[in-house]
Amino acid sequence: MSKYLVLLLITIGAVTAQQKVSVKIYYESLCEDSMAFFTKSFVPAWRDEDVQRYINLSLIPYGKSIPKSSDPNNRWDCHHGREECVGNKFQSCIIDKSSGLTVKNQVDFIDCLMSKADKSSAYMPTADTCASTVHTNAETLKNLKQCADGSQGNSIYEMNQNKTNALQNPLQSVPTIVFNDRYNKADSDTAQKSFLTVLCKYIMDSPKPKACDSVSGAPSTTAGLMSLVTAGLIYRML
Ligand SMILES: *[C@@H]1O[C@H](CO)[C@@H](O)[C@H](O)[C@H]1NC(C)=O
Ligand SMILES: *[C@@H]1O[C@H](CO)[C@@H](O)[C@H](O)[C@H]1NC(C)=O
Repeated sequence: MSKYLVLLLITIGAVTAQQKVSVKIYYESLCEDSMAFFTKSFVPAWRDEDVQRYINLSLIPYGKSIPKSSDPNNRWDCHHGREECVGNKFQSCIIDKSSGLTVKNQVDFIDCLMSKADKSSAYMPTADTCASTVHTNAETLKNLKQCADGSQGNSIYEMNQNKTNALQNPLQSVPTIVFNDRYNKADSDTAQKSFLTVLCKYIMDSPKPKACDSVSGAPSTTAGLMSLVTAGLIYRML
């Protein structure tokens, strides 16, 4: 192989290798800390497309729900009451593949819900408001409601129960944010206030997204320069 081809491959590799960071968010639809996390920490970081392309997102609304009966209309007690079960299930249906919504649309919808929902009022009117804010078509909204209100919603919610129990049973803290499938309390606590700080730590590409400059000690350009120097050294050794 020619040196030039090798150098070209190294360069292309450095530019395109885009290792996504797995981000799993365990939360509740009416939990104040979860709402603050979405609207003030996670979504502002997510909106930067350069950051977003590094995130492999899993949203798991369930939190500290407790299974209570086999009655299909009343299977769980939710941490903040009945309306939270409505919200958690509605969001579970948004997130499910069957919704047909892109991940981007899912996050927009949930961001609206997390900023507008209110513990002291019914959840579905907020869902209607947000559906129109994010331009969800009538057919999709109808399907989401049907899902949330029936056996499909229950079975997705049971999956969330299983995923949450697999992490911790009961969940210790809401929200809990897990990076690359390894629970770390310090990461989760820091991410609650500054999601970007922790995400940037796990992004191994250089340069890192520009937004990481604002939350890490070394600017991303230093890392970019380092990788160029390394590529140069490898090139000279060949
Ligand atoms: C994203 O995470 C899921 C598991 O949550 C995994 O199956 C999938 O392969 C990951 N995708 C990428 C691009 O890393
Ligand atoms: C959840 O876990 C239980 C017990 O392991 C299992 O029987 C059930 O099928 C699981 N539910 C889903 C939806 O994966």
